[in-house]
Amino acid sequence: MLSVSNLSVQFGKRVLFDEVNTTFQSGNCYGVIGANGAGKSTFLKILAGQLEPTSGHVFLEPGRRLSVFEQNHNLYDEYPVLETVLRGNKPLFEIKTKIDELYADYSDENAEKIGELQAQFEEMDGWNAESSAASMLSNLDIHESLHYTQMKDLDGKQKVRVLLAQALFGAPDVLIMDEPTNDLDYETIMWLENFIANYDKCVIVVSHDRHFLDAVCTHVSDIDFGKINHYSGNYTFWYESSQLAARQRSQQNKKAEEKKKELQEFIARFSANVAKSKQATSRKKMIEKLNIEDIKPSSRRYPAIIFDRNREAGDQILNIEKLKAVQDGVTIFDNINLNLKKGDKVVVYSKDSRAVTAFYQIISGHEQASAGTYDWGITTTQSYLPLDNSAFFNSDISLVDWLRQWATTEEEREEVYLRGFLGKMIFSGEEALKKCSVLSGGEKVRCMLSKMMMVRANVLLLDEPTNHLDLESITAFNNSLKNFKGTVLFSTHDHAFAETVANRVVELTPKGIIDRYATFDEYMQDPALKELRAKMYQ
Ligand SMILES: Nc1ncnc2c1ncn2[C@@H]1O[C@H](COP(=O)(O)OP(=O)(O)O)[C@@H](O)[C@H]1O
Ligand SMILES: [Mg+2]
Repeated sequence: MLSVSNLSVQFGKRVLFDEVNTTFQSGNCYGVIGANGAGKSTFLKILAGQLEPTSGHVFLEPGRRLSVFEQNHNLYDEYPVLETVLRGNKPLFEIKTKIDELYADYSDENAEKIGELQAQFEEMDGWNAESSAASMLSNLDIHESLHYTQMKDLDGKQKVRVLLAQALFGAPDVLIMDEPTNDLDYETIMWLENFIANYDKCVIVVSHDRHFLDAVCTHVSDIDFGKINHYSGNYTFWYESSQLAARQRSQQNKKAEEKKKELQEFIARFSANVAKSKQATSRKKMIEKLNIEDIKPSSRRYPAIIFDRNREAGDQILNIEKLKAVQDGVTIFDNINLNLKKGDKVVVYSKDSRAVTAFYQIISGHEQASAGTYDWGITTTQSYLPLDNSAFFNSDISLVDWLRQWATTEEEREEVYLRGFLGKMIFSGEEALKKCSVLSGGEKVRCMLSKMMMVRANVLLLDEPTNHLDLESITAFNNSLKNFKGTVLFSTHDHAFAETVANRVVELTPKGIIDRYATFDEYMQDPALKELRAKMYQ
């Protein structure tokens, strides 16, 4: 379908891709992964013809169409909604435009041309284009009354949905998406997962969203050391099998046959789980066809995130009564009553993301509530990862000195000790001596996690902890929170994180709290709760 030959890309001295040869097949969905800056976005731009490689070629089978999910949400601001979607199928839109022009300037000569174009138009199913674009929009909850509105008059959420419809419109043979779930809400992501999982063409997608990758991918395309390798299976399969293979490599006294058997059993277990899962998708069959040759030991370094506690908390963790927050004259939550139990792992959710951040800022003592009270149990110690951590990093000290600020004993002040914690977050050697003011977003979060590991609190407050992190860090962080013995309040856009960590869901609304012991999916998909939730925001 789409292939790449001898592709090399170099920016200055930096070689991103070195003689890459690879093919993308129809029917498959490739999840492209790789470290920050590995070249994922660059690669997609080259596939889409938006960027020229330094050398080499990209071949799309003749007669096939490729489409890209637009990341610039304002690009179509001057166009009406329905037309924006129609523009997604460029060849069709161009023919339609020509026909319209010729009609406007009607003559006998033009009539013949119109006839020819209309035949092409018909072949491309052009007469149904508007109605299929309209029904796509409606499926995405863009009501008919909005179809002739200018894009610039939609809100951010609506714009992404229209652009999504644009990318999918006319069923492109190759669909390219760079981190598509980033600005989408839960419902839209679920819709997209379902759509892509049943889409029988070729999809190439970069994502950090493991739930999405697992739901849609038949292959993982790993960018590492300037090359791209495809592996059959979804992200979880790639992660777990490559970890298993890496462990096997270090077990020298184990026989080759035993290792092979272990891998085969792993594949059988994994396939059985996929087969059992509720999802009925056409991609699922592909994931059931896994083979042992595809498993390679991982060369990735995963951070070692381990949260210990200095002491165990008593039974009183946190009691909140009638808590209220007002921002810019608007009540963002009110009448919040909550009693935390020891060991609860609570995902805190609100349709208004300001509410969640205000909640953490209040219960961590950084901001005042507009009304109500909160009481921490005296045996609790809290460690807070705020959404905005910039205040921690506006000095020029080294990472070691930065971390030393939270040392409480002589031992903790020692450089070796501090470097140990930084090393766990993959700041090794010289990296630990970097100035903290030059760090990237992801590096700052990794520093904050080093601090949290060192502080050993028994309650963790985490506001969007996976922001800026790469897949390795997210995966390691997720695993560590599953195993943490203390209490956690967290909010996240990462579906897999929410689903695998939380035993309780709390939603903050202007009309009070909704509080359920449930998994995140159970909570979000419960029809009665959906109704209740809609009412609480009115
Ligand atoms: N036009 C450019 N000129 C120079 N360097 C670039 C350009 N575009 C990207 N880069 C660099 O190439 C690397 C890969 O970028 P990108 O493809 O965006 O990575 P990823 O999407 O994997 O995070 C980064 O180090 C980036 O700074
Ligand atoms: Mg990118």
